[in-house]
Amino acid sequence: MFRYFELTFSHGIMSHNATNPEKNEPLQTATAPQPLFYGSLRLPTRYLLSPLAGFTNLPFRRIVRRLGGVGLCTTDLVSARGLLERSPKSMQLIETCAEDSPYAVQIFGPDRQEMADAAQFLEEYGVDSIDINMGCPVARITGNGAGSAMMCATDSTLELVRAVVEAVSIPVTVKMRLGWDDSQLTAPFFAREFEQVGVVAVAIHGRTREQGFKGDVNRDGIRQVVEAVEKIPVIGNGDILNVADAERMFQETGCHGISIGRGALANPWIFRQLVEWEITGDCAPAGNFEDRLELMLLQFSHLREQVGTNRAIRMFRKMGHWYLKAMRVHKSLRHEFQLAKSLDEVREAIARIREAGPVGGNRSGLLPDMHIPVPGGPVEKW
Ligand SMILES: Cc1cc2nc3c(=O)[nH]c(=O)nc-3n(C[C@H](O)[C@H](O)[C@H](O)COP(=O)(O)O)c2cc1C
Repeated sequence: MFRYFELTFSHGIMSHNATNPEKNEPLQTATAPQPLFYGSLRLPTRYLLSPLAGFTNLPFRRIVRRLGGVGLCTTDLVSARGLLERSPKSMQLIETCAEDSPYAVQIFGPDRQEMADAAQFLEEYGVDSIDINMGCPVARITGNGAGSAMMCATDSTLELVRAVVEAVSIPVTVKMRLGWDDSQLTAPFFAREFEQVGVVAVAIHGRTREQGFKGDVNRDGIRQVVEAVEKIPVIGNGDILNVADAERMFQETGCHGISIGRGALANPWIFRQLVEWEITGDCAPAGNFEDRLELMLLQFSHLREQVGTNRAIRMFRKMGHWYLKAMRVHKSLRHEFQLAKSLDEVREAIARIREAGPVGGNRSGLLPDMHIPVPGGPVEKW
């Protein structure tokens, strides 16, 4: 079983008064973290899950929660219009459960009224916080003036964000990139303005829309956003894969929290590790092959609960392929998993995978770094 389950952080990681139960003396903290608040919402930790459309669904969020350390999970981006129409796809994206708390729903759309109405619907639905997507670079979204295209339109963007804030009493945040391209780094301007209209936090992916996922994260750009706001927290995001990356993000940007997307898919233990590091200055390694396999099966069973066995088998092929590849499972066994059509066949494939172990590795050692797929080619064509 997962080796970290027995550890709990019932009072979160922010306690400066935490004591070492064995020695009954204060723990050494690597940093002196401040509690992170989204308005009146106190987040249990300052390590947040960044939305990854197609991946950060409820089954994945549940396993991240179970491993511990995450301060807030946000859904994949959801269309405001889809929510108003109660489209099955949108309604499935916002599904949650008791342990998935606190959680934010991220909405996108170019229309001010639709966004405000969708926010109201979400408040009634019971979400803890609403996040506005201003970072998505995909043409299907930006073509309508939503996502990162909002970073090019000052007045209409401010009006839209104001309308959402005024429509609800729960916290509203914005996630954006640094700007459209290097000649328009508008994030500091928007962050300052958003704070004035009542946005309670901004998350910044330290790249421009033009960059897509290429090039380095511009931490200096994130720092400029931190300096532009008065009080609200700024969440630094981009390329954080381990504790050292997180530490660098905090140090070089002065950000108040970090959000992790691809790094959490590669290593769902990362939030737990960051909390441990924050409290003790060190952390246990991520799970090994056996732990990973358990986690994968747990995620699959959560997906079955959500969508039923037959659909879960089909839906899990993408995620399963990707997990198994990263776990260095032999190609023929991965193929067998992909071909499984019934629960029995899935179980048989997994049993063989467990028996065989990783190619050229071992079951108890560290897993190799996972490659995370991102859209490729020119960003205009995504
Ligand atoms: C496959 C994929 C899907 C994504 N979906 C979303 C999304 O729905 N909403 C959003 O704000 N950002 C989305 N992002 C961007 C991530 O949230 C994050 O900002 C970016 O990947 C950089 O952080 P990371 O290096 O920790 O992954 C997505 C990224 C990827 C790779």
